Amino acid sequence: MWNSPKVGILGGGQLGRMLVESANRLNIQANVLDADNAPAKQISFHDGHVTGSFKEREAVRKLAESCDVITAEIEHVDTYALEEVASKVRVEPSWQAIRTIQNKFDQKEHLRKYDIPMADHRELSDNTPEELAKIGEQLGYPMMLKSKTMAYDGRGNFRVNSKEDIPEALEALKDRPLYSEKWAYFKMELAVMVIKTKDDVLSYPTVETVQEDSICKLVYAPARNVPDVINQKAQALARKAVSAFEGKGAFGVEMFLLEDNSLMLCELASRIHNSGHWTIEGCALSQFDSHIRAIMDLPIPPKSLELRQPSIMLNIIGGATPDSHLKATEAALSIPNASIHLYSKGAAKPGRKMGHVTVTAATMHEAETMIQPLITVVDDMRA
Ligand code: ADP
Ligand code: NA
Ligand code: MG
Repeated sequence: MWNSPKVGILGGGQLGRMLVESANRLNIQANVLDADNAPAKQISFHDGHVTGSFKEREAVRKLAESCDVITAEIEHVDTYALEEVASKVRVEPSWQAIRTIQNKFDQKEHLRKYDIPMADHRELSDNTPEELAKIGEQLGYPMMLKSKTMAYDGRGNFRVNSKEDIPEALEALKDRPLYSEKWAYFKMELAVMVIKTKDDVLSYPTVETVQEDSICKLVYAPARNVPDVINQKAQALARKAVSAFEGKGAFGVEMFLLEDNSLMLCELASRIHNSGHWTIEGCALSQFDSHIRAIMDLPIPPKSLELRQPSIMLNIIGGATPDSHLKATEAALSIPNASIHLYSKGAAKPGRKMGHVTVTAATMHEAETMIQPLITVVDDMRA
């Protein structure tokens, strides 16, 4: 192999774990910064890992000392630590990109300069009922009140149906920096994984995502019944949005497809993303393979990002009882063409992503038929 370059990863959850799987196959050492038993560390035995948190300055410094390039599985990292170490080690994507993207309001203000279509939104400055009521008059109801920071899986969003909901909404998101967004009447949610390399911006096919309780439940690749022109338009929009940021690697772009077939950006992430897990089985290079290659300046043949077979990904999420997800896993063992990925995160909590299953088939219809019994198990557990 080449001169064994080392990658540092901030965060060792399931995304870090799947990055390590890709790095391992290329004999690239991945040094993970997280707690000792983190999912990514469990599959990687060497003495280069760092114990600590991606929010600790000292821990990030320590990681930087042992790596050629640093990346992150999560955007909620200490970007001031990254800024400091950027003089000694490559940081991909750039700390500036991560800092802007981790604040969803800043992200949208930045993207506005690049003419990216988005739902109209207003910043709150003092989080009072009077202020939000005034914004409600401007945006109309329903509207989505959102936290600017630390938001994921819907934890940071509150749907405000009318003026009467305002006190409850402000209580639910209290002590957080907020903005409010006009309701997007979408007919479908789409997503595109974008890979930024040293001289290219590449994209995977457009997928359809289905959220339940604001958590991604299913991903259909390609998006069902979406004409190729929209598939291409969505990829172009995603590439354009990601081009507004500096640095290399994978970016996940979430979009709304509106009734009139126009597209709107929902949000983007400066990292590998749940909407791209299907690429592990669905493409020659997964989003994790491509991310590693992009940050190491290794070749990525664009053809390797094309869809090989229609794919459906189902998340295995912690349910009502501590063993709900195990029942889903057991059922998945008997599904033909199902590839099971468990994350080894320990105890399940409701809403916690414990694993995922991807089914591929010659046609989308066939894949739908194969995965349906598993969806039924998951739905029954929830009911
Ligand atoms: P996160 O995924 O970080 O929790 P998102 O902004 O992606 O935050 O919101 C989560 C989900 O909430 C979206 O996938 C979508 O289903 C819904 N949503 C978000 N913004 C709006 C909006 N303006 N109008 C309607 N639904 C929305
Ligand atoms: Na998110
Ligand atoms: Mg989202």
